[in-house]
Parts: sequence; C-alpha cells; structure tokens
Amino acid sequence: MKIGIDKIGFYAPHIYVDMNKLAVARNVEPEKFTIGIGQSQMAVAPVTQDSVSLAANAALEIIDDEDREKIDFVIFGSESGIDHSKSGAVYVHQLLGLNPHARAIEVKQACYGATAGIQMAKGHIALNPDSKVLVLGSDIARYGLKTSGESTQGAGAVAMIISANPRIMELEEHNVYLTNDIMDFWRPIYSDMAFVDGKFSNEQYILFFNKVWEAYKEKAGLQLSDMEAICFHLPYTKMGLKALRTVLDEASEDVQNRLLYNYQASTTYNRNVGNIYTGSLYLSLLSLLENKEELQDGARIGMYSYGSGAVGEFFSGILQPGFKKHLFVEAHQQLFARRKEVSVEEYEVIFEETLPKDGSDIELDITKDPAAICLSGTIDNKRQYVNKLR
Ligand code: HMG
Repeated sequence: MKIGIDKIGFYAPHIYVDMNKLAVARNVEPEKFTIGIGQSQMAVAPVTQDSVSLAANAALEIIDDEDREKIDFVIFGSESGIDHSKSGAVYVHQLLGLNPHARAIEVKQACYGATAGIQMAKGHIALNPDSKVLVLGSDIARYGLKTSGESTQGAGAVAMIISANPRIMELEEHNVYLTNDIMDFWRPIYSDMAFVDGKFSNEQYILFFNKVWEAYKEKAGLQLSDMEAICFHLPYTKMGLKALRTVLDEASEDVQNRLLYNYQASTTYNRNVGNIYTGSLYLSLLSLLENKEELQDGARIGMYSYGSGAVGEFFSGILQPGFKKHLFVEAHQQLFARRKEVSVEEYEVIFEETLPKDGSDIELDITKDPAAICLSGTIDNKRQYVNKLR
C-alpha cells in the first residue's frame, strides 16, 4: 500500500521585513543577508498569531468535509508551543471542527518535529488504511533583536494530510536517522528566545547530512543521480546549499547542474519567509512543487530533516501521477502578494509586543490581522482564539 502526502498547505503571517533594510539598520552589508545568508524577506508574527493559529490557518486551506470526518489523528510538531501541558493539536482540532474521535498530540524535537510526525502518521495509516492524519509543523523563530541569529528568524506553518493512496508524494521506505546529544541550539523553558552556537550548528547540520546520506545510499542502493531534487531543512537558504555542495562531486556534471538548478526552486518560498523551524523542510518541498514547472510525475525527491540537539533524517518520496492538480498554487501566490512590508522600526515594536507574562487578561485587536484564525487575547490564563469564518 502506498502511504504519503495527500495534501499540503501553508500559512505565513501577513507582514514581513525586507532583509536589505534590516542589514542597513544593523550596519552590515545587505549582501551578507541576501547572498551570504540567502534571505530576501523575513515573515514577522504579530501578537495575534502564535504557533496554534498559524497551524490552524495552514490547515484551513486544505481540509474539506471528507477530511474533517476521516482525520483521526492530529500531530502538532512545534518548538514554540504555547503550553507545557496541553498540546497545540487539541486547539487546532477544535478550531477546524474535526471528528471528535481523534487523537491529538504535540511532538517536539527542534526542527525535526514534523518529520517525526510524518513517520508516526505513516505507521498509523499502515494500521488504519481508511483514516487520515493531519500533520502540522508550526513555529515562530525568535533569536532576539540585534543578535547574530536575527537574520535567520521567521514565522509560519505547513499542514499536511497523510493518507493511503496519496495524491502528491508517496513516502518511500529506507529512511536513515541519527541522534547525538549536542548543544548547538536550544531554548530553556524560561526563555522565549533561542540560544545558539551558530558556527557549531552549521557544522553539525552538515555532519549529520553527510552521515545520513552515506547510510541512506547504502541502505536504499540509490545515489545522487536517482534524485530529481533534494529538499533540505532551511534555517536560511544558504545552509542547504552548503550541505549539498559537500556531496556534489559524487555525480556527473549534468546531475550536479540539475540538483543545483532545482535547489533554487526549492528555496524560493523559504527565501521570503525565513526559518519556520519544523515546517521549513516541508515549505521547501512545497516551494519546489509549486515553482518548478517541469517537475515530472514519478520523480524522486530526497528529503533532509535536521533538528538541533540533534536528530537528523534522510528519506525520499515519489511524486504521484497528476500531483500538480492537487496543489494550492494560486492561494499561495495570493498569500505572498497580499503581504505588507513593515519598516525595521515597526518590526522592532511588533517583536516586543508579547502576551502579559504575569497572566493578566488581555484583549487583542484582531481587526488588523487578515488571517481567518487569530489569537484574540487571554482570559484567566487561557488563550482565546477566533475563527472569523465561523
Ligand atoms: P554570522 O556570524 O552573522 O554570519 O552568523 P557569518 O559571518 O558566518 O556570515 C554568514 C555568511 O555571509 C558567510 O558565508 C559569509 O562569508 C557571508 P559562508 O562563508 O558561511 O558561506 N558574507 C557575505 N556574503 C556576501 N557579501 C557580503 C558578506 N558578508 C558576509 N558582504 C549564522 C550566521 C547563520 C551562524 C547566524 O545567523 C546564526 O547563528 N543563526 C541561527 C543558527 C542557524 O541558523 N544554524 C543553522 C544550522 S542549525 C539548524 O538548522 C537548526 C535550527 O533551524 C534550529 C532547530 O533545529 O530548531 C537553527
């Protein structure tokens, strides 16, 4: 039985900062951000969007009534979850009006969470072929104003339905995964901003890639020439390129050119959104599917997932016949076209606008946020969400 991605949706907040302008404000050459880091725009989350509302908005565009009935498992991958106890999945389940007879959990391992969710979903579908699983990867990446990680922030969510007989991508077997206890990036429970050993994290990302790729080749009996493209977890778009370059000399010039060419399509969305942590790899897949016109049915796509701390995984998938018909390209084009630029000064104010830390009630103005689902405030330490479509 084929199991894989049946639908894939995406949401990013309606405002962004231009990286050229951020560079000028931080007194660095714009090319450092646009070429050295490889980012053009950075999505900024207003206080009315958190990881739950971003995920619910991403899912809203892809689910229909049949999905609402058949989804019996919601897996919320996040490292910017809103509660130490209750899962984001339970909120999303309610906001989307899903079948009550469903499991709903949150999964955490830095940017690897959604990949863990997908693999878990695969097992669930193998046992329950008629059901569907909603997997969410949703995050707000925060390092702090004027930090070295600032240019690699972002916000957004990807939502995927995993099912039997998927219409977009069948997930192949022979996954290879790796865990090693390292401190390259972490966020202690008391902090809403990440701590990072930047250079070390870059090295580990590449080291993990090299290790899982070597093992994958052996296990799968496949090589670079078997991949139409490789999608990477993208903390910033230059990162995947650095990893890709370490293995390119294994292939002929034609294959190298193909992979490098397709890499561009697989980074277009990420370049304009920033790091969305656990959704980033899947935003890269979406970017490839929606921006590379000549992509053929049956093509094999390599997928490299990396979550600091760290866990890495390499796996692959096969694009299904007619997959293009099941994408939401126009909706995503509109999402990008409707976003508004904010100045660096406005971004700094928005960045500091957080919910009260002492638990006091707050009512947020959601009229300025065009998203269907918004965080409207807190009452008695409980977050309040509004689905404007209901
Ligand atoms: P930095 O110190 O600001 O930048 O840190 P840099 O000095 O390393 O420069 C960056 C690049 O810009 C370099 O390119 C420079 O040469 C180039 P490279 O040599 O590395 O290819 N550059 C220029 N290029 C063109 N024109 C110029 C120019 N000037 C410089 N004028 C760093 C950068 C990414 C380390 C920092 O932003 C950071 O710490 N970010 C957060 C950590 C991160 O993203 N790590 C990635 C791997 S770990 C990961 O992916 C997991 C993660 O997503 C978390 C999770 O799993 O949950 C982060």
